[in-house]
Amino acid sequence: MRISSKLVVSLLCLGGLLLLYLLLGNEPSIRGTQRSRVPVPSGQGKVQPTTPGHFRAIEDHMPKRDPRLKKKKSNAKASSSKMRVPERKQKAPVPEEWMHLAVVACGDRVEETVTMLKSAAIFSIKKIRFHIFAEDALKPEFEQKLDDWPQQLSRKFDYKIYPITFSVGNAQEWKKLFKPCASQRLFLPMILQDVDSLLYVDTDVLFLRPLDDIWAFLKRFNDTQLAAMAPEHEVPKIGWYSRFARHPFFGTTGVNSGVMLMNLTRIRKQQFKNDMIEAGLTWEEMLHPLYQKYKNYITWGDQDLLNIIFYFNPENLFVFPCQWNYRPDHCMYGSNCKSAEEDGVSILHGNRGVYHDDKQPAFKAFYEVIRDYPFDGNLFQSMYYPLQTKFLESVHTLCGRIPQVFLKQIENTMKKVYERRVIVHAGSRVRI
Ligand SMILES: *[C@@H]1O[C@H](CO)[C@@H](O)[C@H](O)[C@H]1NC(C)=O
Ligand SMILES: *[C@@H]1O[C@H](CO)[C@@H](O)[C@H](O)[C@H]1NC(C)=O
Repeated sequence: MRISSKLVVSLLCLGGLLLLYLLLGNEPSIRGTQRSRVPVPSGQGKVQPTTPGHFRAIEDHMPKRDPRLKKKKSNAKASSSKMRVPERKQKAPVPEEWMHLAVVACGDRVEETVTMLKSAAIFSIKKIRFHIFAEDALKPEFEQKLDDWPQQLSRKFDYKIYPITFSVGNAQEWKKLFKPCASQRLFLPMILQDVDSLLYVDTDVLFLRPLDDIWAFLKRFNDTQLAAMAPEHEVPKIGWYSRFARHPFFGTTGVNSGVMLMNLTRIRKQQFKNDMIEAGLTWEEMLHPLYQKYKNYITWGDQDLLNIIFYFNPENLFVFPCQWNYRPDHCMYGSNCKSAEEDGVSILHGNRGVYHDDKQPAFKAFYEVIRDYPFDGNLFQSMYYPLQTKFLESVHTLCGRIPQVFLKQIENTMKKVYERRVIVHAGSRVRI
């Protein structure tokens, strides 16, 4: 008797929840978010991009009274000067904190990059500003794809597209440094003078939980830390740096620069120790001589330079666990990322081109499902179930045998998206 009434009650609860899900759809809606008036970063410091960038959704941050600016999309520079509200006569509203995400895309990487940005936008809570560094030829395609996203999602981000620029040394030489354009990331502290902190990711990264969660590591930096990366490998015996590197590198296995959190303010201020000049050098002063000194010994380009820098300055680096930069190396020889076994994968990094071939179908499943998510507001139906199905087809690989590791965090993320929606926006029916 008692048991059955308990059963009825819990069934009713479940039913109620289901009904809520169905009624409410499931993206976090942005209704009620305080419209921010954060000034759009104006100049790009010394390295003014030749084409003025293009901030999207600028009208969101405009003081409401100038209607002429409302529909103006491009010309971020002109509008940003208008936006500088001269003084705070009344108490200005506390500016909403933006998160900044940077990526460098060259060649055939637009779809991959847009899929990465999509994963960031869908799951994140605070607003994100995308800083996209791309070859000029790719700009129209980026604009077209990003402008095509549904309006509800567009309110959560804006973006700016920058040309590839190098502030020191020989541009051609930097460009040639391994993957085209990859060394651009080393110059972000100088180019983005107005940005305090930034998450840089490779184009082949996918967020399986809110960007807010990795952003929170910035506040956990101690007084000397100014950047954060995950180890390149968990097992020194099979790691690349520990076996083959002919240059100094961080820690026992080196670090991977595919997901790199930076406090740019601190990087710009710091004098870095090095093996060239006793007194230390600023980031900007150090890059070119460092490259000159080590160019014949490095294999992975700018990631090697970062490893050399933090070898000499270990107290400046915060190392986050491998679940924040989870690569095929973490499962293709057997599972070796402890933190992902416990918490699930937080950020997936499909390096080695695994989204585009059939070697690691477990990784490819995530890529295809997020790429094809139709923004219909139905995360479980249109993303999670197809993902599960596709993932099960990868059981013949070592990575495919650990679905709990791959799926745990994204399932959790989706539940939270629902909860936020239910709690904050009960009653609204906005769908993405
Ligand atoms: C970055 O470092 C500067 C200088 O220490 C500090 O003022 C700022 O709050 C830091 N940014 C974040 C997001 O923690
Ligand atoms: C910050 O943490 C790093 C790494 O644990 C350490 O080397 C450094 O000494 C710490 N800095 C301070 C000021 O405690």
